[in-house]
Amino acid sequence: MRRSAVGGSAVAMLAAAAALVSVTMPSAHAADTPLRTLAEAKGIYMGTALMQNELTGISASIAGTQFDSVTPGNEMKWESVEPTRGTYNWGPADQIVSFAQANNMQVRGHNLVWHSQLPSWLTSGSFTNQQLHDIMIKHVTDEVTHFKGKVVHWDVVNEPFNEDGTFRSDLWYNQLGSSYIADALTAARAADPNAKLYINDYNVEGENAKSNGLYNLVKSLKQQGVPIDGVGFQAHFILGQVPSDFKANLQRFADLGVDVAVTELDVRMQTPADSTKLQQQANDYTAVMNDCLGVTRCVGVTVWGFNDATSWVPSTFPGQGAATPYDENYQPKPAYYAIQAALGGNGTPPTTPPTSPPTTQPSTPPPGGNCAVTYGVNQWNTGFTANITVKNTGSAPISGWTLTWNQASGTQTVTQAWNATVTKSGTAYTAKNLSYNGAIAVGASTSFGFNADWSGSNPTPTGFALNGGACTVS
Ligand code: XIL
Repeated sequence: MRRSAVGGSAVAMLAAAAALVSVTMPSAHAADTPLRTLAEAKGIYMGTALMQNELTGISASIAGTQFDSVTPGNEMKWESVEPTRGTYNWGPADQIVSFAQANNMQVRGHNLVWHSQLPSWLTSGSFTNQQLHDIMIKHVTDEVTHFKGKVVHWDVVNEPFNEDGTFRSDLWYNQLGSSYIADALTAARAADPNAKLYINDYNVEGENAKSNGLYNLVKSLKQQGVPIDGVGFQAHFILGQVPSDFKANLQRFADLGVDVAVTELDVRMQTPADSTKLQQQANDYTAVMNDCLGVTRCVGVTVWGFNDATSWVPSTFPGQGAATPYDENYQPKPAYYAIQAALGGNGTPPTTPPTSPPTTQPSTPPPGGNCAVTYGVNQWNTGFTANITVKNTGSAPISGWTLTWNQASGTQTVTQAWNATVTKSGTAYTAKNLSYNGAIAVGASTSFGFNADWSGSNPTPTGFALNGGACTVS
């Protein structure tokens, strides 16, 4: 293992889990290995930004399954944690940290000192330089102390540069000068000596005036013995514009003796997306993954939100969006499979197993025939997420539905469902519509899903029936 992104025992455990999967995973469920498992095998982490309102349902399920690092999208920022001077609001960030711990994910703390998302008491107060310095040190100290031992990487200073490589003229630089950066890093180190301390910025991915400014800063901090462990490259890209020298630039920073990480990756496009743009986006994600994997000190890649439904892009860049690896319906996009392939996975959507054609004509026509079911499953060694679509292929509208099916053996326990109630008795599953999705017009479909734990074996479900009539399955 060339990196230390995850501890040795965690790696061993995950390797064992991966081995278990390959032995026990039924072929009909040839679900793709989660990105996190693939990433760990490559010695990096695969992270996502996550917000407090994404800790349940399908977002929680995908985040916890696919990613092994979480960056709170907003919940650790100054305006969120210290809305009133000296009074801390840790709840939202604590919830994300708990989620990460429950799912065996590490946390990237984001962020401590930034020009944006500051509380108004801070931006509209008039403080002397000494007071402002003390406020900053206290905030850094209190926040790092609160999360001591729980945050692996801290974005201590965020976005300190202008595009021309000079220091950004913000509250901090204007009053304290550039020494605020070293002071914040030093305070963070004192509060949690084990946390990896980063400076994080955007438009620094290629070699340019801004990244030169950052490079010179990091070089000088290292020379002065200021605690700095890494540099974060946000990587908010425009479609087709990943700099060709990203890897070389990561390497020149690494050569200063710091780790590097891709911290906020997304690739935005003019919406609507189409297949050509999505393929270009997949190529862009491939390039970024390969750039990180090509630099030994690149410890991981974090996407800034994993799905287009909650991405910050559409509200920040009007007319643009579709920037993440999952679409607005939480379905993986070509970009997802590009990441998967770059990490050594198969890089193709799961296929249903070929069914052998019947050798004799059935003596009776198949019953029912008023429904077609698509059963998609994403399975790992102890659990799975199923997404089921039911189509009304009959000639009458359906009002109110119950879908039943069987799983031959093994132990499965439904833990969570969406867009339906899902219960299980013995090997028989029953899903019923909720108040809002009971009607399925002729030719229309409805979708629901659930999470479950499993042990023993997890065979392919059979015998799907809608309101008692058998369904075709694809
Ligand atoms: C963004 C969040 O995603 C939004 O929800 C929020 O409204 C604004 O900030 N660079 C950063 C992140 O370092 O903190 C920003 O996050 C995106 C740009």
